[in-house]
Amino acid sequence: MSHEDTAGTRRDFLYYATAGAGAVTAGAAVWPLVNQMNASADVKALSSIFVDVSGVELGTQLTVKWRGKPVFIRRRTADEIAAAREVDVNSLIDPTAENANKPGADASDENRALDENGEWLVMLGVCTHLGCVPIGDGAGEFGGWFCPCHGSHYDSAGRIRKGPAPRNLDIPIAAFTDATTVKLG
Ligand code: FES
Repeated sequence: MSHEDTAGTRRDFLYYATAGAGAVTAGAAVWPLVNQMNASADVKALSSIFVDVSGVELGTQLTVKWRGKPVFIRRRTADEIAAAREVDVNSLIDPTAENANKPGADASDENRALDENGEWLVMLGVCTHLGCVPIGDGAGEFGGWFCPCHGSHYDSAGRIRKGPAPRNLDIPIAAFTDATTVKLG
């Protein structure tokens, strides 16, 4: 790879990571739990990031790149939350939350949302079928995300409702560190 190619790649990444709203900063890398975690966790911990979500309006989505993958950070409207919460979990294709913060939990909206009120939903933007990036902003037949590659429809909680994808969109380790900052990883 030439020097120019390298520079171009870096610029593209910086643009992507900061597009949409606010600043994304590389996290302070070292944390004390590394030794208690699994073998690859020391590497993963190095790539925690902090995302400023103060500029994300209701009904919009910020996409950041994290560990080489897109992460959707959506601030949901009351209608989106209500629609997600009235779904019978037992009717879902994948009844598990697929939430790294709540292993083994069922796929109720409460177990998928980042905050208690359900306003924030953080998910990997990677279709669980073959890995395309789904389209958001209420796309698809269930008012959430739609993957056009082979026609997978996700609802407003990112749960698979129709199409070939076998699982709900994965939720990574994430937490608010203050009122407007989300830490990924
Ligand atoms: S990759 Fe999304 S439906 Fe196939």
